[in-house]
Amino acid sequence: MRFGLGSFKALGGAYAVANLLSAELARRDIALAAGSTDLAAGRYRTDTSKLTVTCATDGNHGRSVAWAAQRFHCRCVIFVHEHVNQARIDAIAAFGAEIRIVPGTYDDAVREASRQADAEGWMIASDTSWPGYTEVPRDIMQGYRIMVDEAADQWMSPQPTHVFVQGGVGGVAAAVSVHIRLRFQPTPTLIVVEPDRAACLFASAQAGALTAIAGDLDTVMAGLACGEPSLLAWDELARGAGAFMTIPDEASLETMRLLENLQITAGESGVAGLAGCMLAAASPADRILLGLGLEPESRVLVFNTEGRTG
Ligand SMILES: Cc1ncc(COP(=O)(O)O)c(C=O)c1O
Repeated sequence: MRFGLGSFKALGGAYAVANLLSAELARRDIALAAGSTDLAAGRYRTDTSKLTVTCATDGNHGRSVAWAAQRFHCRCVIFVHEHVNQARIDAIAAFGAEIRIVPGTYDDAVREASRQADAEGWMIASDTSWPGYTEVPRDIMQGYRIMVDEAADQWMSPQPTHVFVQGGVGGVAAAVSVHIRLRFQPTPTLIVVEPDRAACLFASAQAGALTAIAGDLDTVMAGLACGEPSLLAWDELARGAGAFMTIPDEASLETMRLLENLQITAGESGVAGLAGCMLAAASPADRILLGLGLEPESRVLVFNTEGRTG
């Protein structure tokens, strides 16, 4: 799905790379408004091949960025943390990106990518934002909104009452939050679902402010293994999300098996929203605790954000 990249991340990272290159060509007075077709055709190849784009990833985002860098003819360096598995690294390297492995977690890789980019003059295509770095992640979140459009276009009335979406740094959940307000009235209740071992958005909700969590973030939901929320995403979710919940690894694995029986392929992170929904629906206590109003008549929208991972 999605250019053969296997996750919704293709909607964000690749879009950001095109925008970064186009802006850089304009800044250098080479082309005022180079579009993705010009870039892919190699019209500015002599210049773009001297530019480097970088980011941190636990797999899917880096694949999207590396794919775009190859397509648009620029150099690409991707930072992965030490626990990213070899298959994910190989999938990124297959697009010609140089891979650098960083000790620690995704958040350590984000910091290292940013440090190296500053030192080397590289462009950062990060899917997470921090004070002073919001423009590119904003573009990436804009790209994710297409996913909500696609769902809304296919949705038959009556409208969804609830949306469960998985959270890593919160970018996709925030994009969903913004876009369901636009596409569905009344706005469905949004529930953000995270792994219980990497629940930085849940911790932020509990604290009432953006909060980073420590630890090794060891979860099978690799795409959601983030300890620090995206600043922009948190700003949206603090207002837009109706509830935050966490799920154990087993719930994700069980949901994958369930979908497989229905011939639907989904990855560990991709099913987290559905897994959260099923847990909440099965537990009256959760439904009350979360203030969800989740009833047998409820109509729930979930997003499978990735295909097979192994
Ligand atoms: C498959 C999948 N789903 C969801 C997410 C979460 O996205 P975000 O980090 O924007 O919250 C990721 C992040 O990598 C992912 O790979």
